[in-house]
Amino acid sequence: MSIWQRLVGDRHELSESVEPLSEQRETPGVRIEVQRLNKFFGSHHVLRDLDLRVDPGETFVIFGPSGCGKSVLLKLITGLLAPDSGRILVDGEDLHAEGLRRFRMAMVFQSSALFNSLSVGGNVGLWLKEHRICGPAEIARIVGEKLALVGLAGQEDAMPSQLSGGMKKRVSIARALAVNPHLMLYDEPTAGLDPVLTEQIGHVIVDLKHLKITSLLVTHDLNLGFAVADRLGMIHEGRLIEVGTPASIRATTNPVVQAFIHTQMKVLAR
Ligand SMILES: Nc1ncnc2c1ncn2[C@@H]1O[C@H](COP(=O)(O)OP(=O)(O)O)[C@@H](O)[C@H]1O
Ligand SMILES: [Mg+2]
Repeated sequence: MSIWQRLVGDRHELSESVEPLSEQRETPGVRIEVQRLNKFFGSHHVLRDLDLRVDPGETFVIFGPSGCGKSVLLKLITGLLAPDSGRILVDGEDLHAEGLRRFRMAMVFQSSALFNSLSVGGNVGLWLKEHRICGPAEIARIVGEKLALVGLAGQEDAMPSQLSGGMKKRVSIARALAVNPHLMLYDEPTAGLDPVLTEQIGHVIVDLKHLKITSLLVTHDLNLGFAVADRLGMIHEGRLIEVGTPASIRATTNPVVQAFIHTQMKVLAR
């Protein structure tokens, strides 16, 4: 059974929109290429010829100080914002092109953004239900499977108001997984969480790596970044100034990256 089938269950019960993009592909993840991306807000030039490549199935972390353009980059990739120039390619096809093969992305927001009137199971299964992807029994099975993936097996009936911040975040990750995404985006997934909960969320994200969903995570928290990333890149003055594995970023000689790492470590040592 392929990873994809494990993710979506019996495909006969699902609409064709959940087929993998390629039968030959080893991962459900897409390749993302960002080419010379520029974004202005008035005269504020936030992203400057930014280039980025995220490989299929990779977990890529973008870090950098507050206000450097991390969330703007994610909004450009989701299409919530339009670039002033440059391209975003998904498996080689322009994100904004007519007739782009359908692919699914799911985002884990900084605020967990759960519907408080719905149970945990209702939140996780909402997309499947609204898009009539499958019937109630199959939705229940998929919801249970996704909750188990984030360490919340059996919590279907809990209400969001009963949950801690860390649990809400895990529900929002399960909800994103229910879409069977080809691309997962995380915007500051540990914002507002204490160090213990931050570590738990880090473990969940690491545990999900075996699914090989292409994942792009933005954070100012380098500890989290180092813990989960296959590769990381730092945004500075609108560009990715350095890209590498956790080990190579730690060993960087780039003074700007070094300064950011050292500032973070000092904050943590306090
Ligand atoms: N809709 C907007 N209108 C004007 N300025 C914006 C808008 N969104 C973001 N910005 C500005 O772009 C810069 C980058 O923002 P953002 O991507 O949110 O930073 P961060 O790296 O903290 O996520 C900031 O200076 C922010 O004020
Ligand atoms: Mg942000």
